[in-house]
Amino acid sequence: MSEFMFTDYYHNQVTFSFEDHPYSPAPKHVWVICRLENQWLLTEHSRRGIEFPGGKVEVGENAEEAAVREVYEETGGVVKHLQYVGQYRVEGKGGTIIKNVYYADIDRLVDKEDYMETKGPVKLTTLPKDIHLNERYSFMMKDQVLTYSLKHLNYL
Ligand code: GTP
Repeated sequence: MSEFMFTDYYHNQVTFSFEDHPYSPAPKHVWVICRLENQWLLTEHSRRGIEFPGGKVEVGENAEEAAVREVYEETGGVVKHLQYVGQYRVEGKGGTIIKNVYYADIDRLVDKEDYMETKGPVKLTTLPKDIHLNERYSFMMKDQVLTYSLKHLNYL
């Protein structure tokens, strides 16, 4: 199986693969790389900073439904098309989490009053080169999941 291993910002071990759900058929977490017209669509989490939207799969929904919901909740973005990219496993202090990565084509942004635990949408023409060091960005943007995914999607 082709997989990539590295450590994240917090020195947790991460294993990432582009294969079809290698670690869990029903992961409990999702992360969505969003594209709106010619820009990236992210959100600003109140504690973690700027990141692509995502979160936990709720009871009664599947991972794809969670991806669509989280994008809407955190950015107001309406997903037009969702593509599975890969899956990763983080061996954290509190246990292992497994997360699906998706690529979403966003149809439009709905202006909302409430963006849950985030400050709402952030649109960027380019992702900064110093993202790993930039304090405005979330730790989730700082490991190789993002770079491998962007390469896979032909953006790097
Ligand atoms: P809540 O979302 O508030 O429930 O917080 P939580 O910290 O319990 O969240 P969660 O169960 O999502 O994550 C547990 C730990 O896993 C985090 O503290 C991180 O260390 C790690 N983690 C979660 N998501 C990611 C991710 O996308 N990448 C990396 N590298 N680590 C992650």
